[in-house]
Amino acid sequence: MDNEEIIAKFFQTPPLKYNTNPEELIDKLLPIALKYQKNVDKIPFYRKLTGEYIQKIFDLPIPNDPQSIEEVVAFLNTYIIPNLPSTTNQRFLAYIPSDPAPEAMVGAMLTPLLNQMVGSVQASVSGTAIEALVIQWFVQLLNLPKNTFGSFTTGGSGAILTCIYAGLVHQGKLHGFDIKEEGYFHPKRFLIYLSDQTHNSVEKAILMLGLGRKSIRYVKSSVNFELTGNAVRTAIQEDQDKFGDSVLPLMIIGNAGTTNSGAIDFLDELREVADEYQLWFHVDGAYGAFAKITNTPVSRRLVGLEKVDSLTLDAHKWFYVPFEAGVALTTNHKIMSNAFELSAEYLIDSELENDYPLQRNFRSYGFPLTRELRGLKIWIMLSLLGVQQIKNAITRNILQANYFQNLIDNNSQFELISRGDLGIVCFVHKDGEYTTIKILEKLQKQNNFYLSTTVLAGKTVIRACILNLRSDLSTMDELYNELIVIEQEFSLT
Ligand SMILES: Cc1ncc(COP(=O)(O)O)c(C=O)c1O
Repeated sequence: MDNEEIIAKFFQTPPLKYNTNPEELIDKLLPIALKYQKNVDKIPFYRKLTGEYIQKIFDLPIPNDPQSIEEVVAFLNTYIIPNLPSTTNQRFLAYIPSDPAPEAMVGAMLTPLLNQMVGSVQASVSGTAIEALVIQWFVQLLNLPKNTFGSFTTGGSGAILTCIYAGLVHQGKLHGFDIKEEGYFHPKRFLIYLSDQTHNSVEKAILMLGLGRKSIRYVKSSVNFELTGNAVRTAIQEDQDKFGDSVLPLMIIGNAGTTNSGAIDFLDELREVADEYQLWFHVDGAYGAFAKITNTPVSRRLVGLEKVDSLTLDAHKWFYVPFEAGVALTTNHKIMSNAFELSAEYLIDSELENDYPLQRNFRSYGFPLTRELRGLKIWIMLSLLGVQQIKNAITRNILQANYFQNLIDNNSQFELISRGDLGIVCFVHKDGEYTTIKILEKLQKQNNFYLSTTVLAGKTVIRACILNLRSDLSTMDELYNELIVIEQEFSLT
């Protein structure tokens, strides 16, 4: 065959040989996920793949030719689906669980099917509008200043990185220093103050931004794991006495719900210290800030949240939507866009923002240019359920956690280490670490509940994270009874 013949033959074949149409794909693939969801409370978290299964997965060659949909479904049903643990199981109370509402999960299915690129208004006029509206709803629900704006991110980690960078650029300007121009080449070492209970995504973000660990000042939290204004003030003063002019404090990062125990820092006090020293005040509210929308005592404990300079939220935690739904906000939207706005010749014709103040190019409010429409699933969920039901669900979790905490507190074999006001209860066995860990291991092995550990005040504690949409008081009773049986077995041996 000569060259021309080869080219002619090549173009006679269609670019993609489809062996299915989209409707058929949906008909064949969707039932797999629906069946998984139906059984989600029966699917344990603890799963260990046998060598044979792992080998089967890793041995799969790249398919050179199309396989039938039946073959694909068979592989999924044999090797993948039966070995997926469920963090949506209402008895999965470890880490920060995810238990999304069906309205949000099914709503999220539209996202890839619509395939909207929300980096530019022009590329997704109503997509960017609905996402901006959801951000506006969060702003209203949390009573944040009306100029607050930002963007959706993958999760809490992406949101923290976004907010810290925006804050640093702003703080640099305040000190006559252009971080966007100079990087961090400054004669003084920048300092960021945070609680020793802060989630490690903050440290990761600071490291990614190139500041280095020496810029991080972990400040000791109180006996209740909360950061006070005085503790930060003392730390700043100590640094100034020790290092004088060679350091420049730039930022305080507070917690509206620590991952370890659900502790809430004294946000009002931290705001005061930030004002005293002209510092940026960020709050990590990834999971806990949503408790503010409830009518519970803990909502009042979140006073000061509305005074932040930046805030991270994560709706895939305590707002019952599926992964990925982080939100990065600055209370002055211009600070966010000053940090992220960058022109490019290939984007000039998409630069125009709409006349509506809320309609913005999201690429200027965070680091990705192209990303999916993350706000749609939240809009669908809130529209179909109404926000009151979400408030009720968070309130129910708080009541369940308080109920469970009281059961533990009234049992002389256990010691309560942290209260469940924000959904997380930590406790130990009175005989110490060995028995505490053994009880947890047995509970995990029984595969009915899954709880994890953390370390508080130097002690390994069992941590129950009660943030699930479908758990209720009977789930708490069931957990407590299972713990008691295990505890008694250990006491008898
Ligand atoms: C308080 C807090 N901040 C940040 C994060 C990080 O969020 P993500 O895992 O969505 O990146 C977590 C995760 O659990 C968290 O609990």
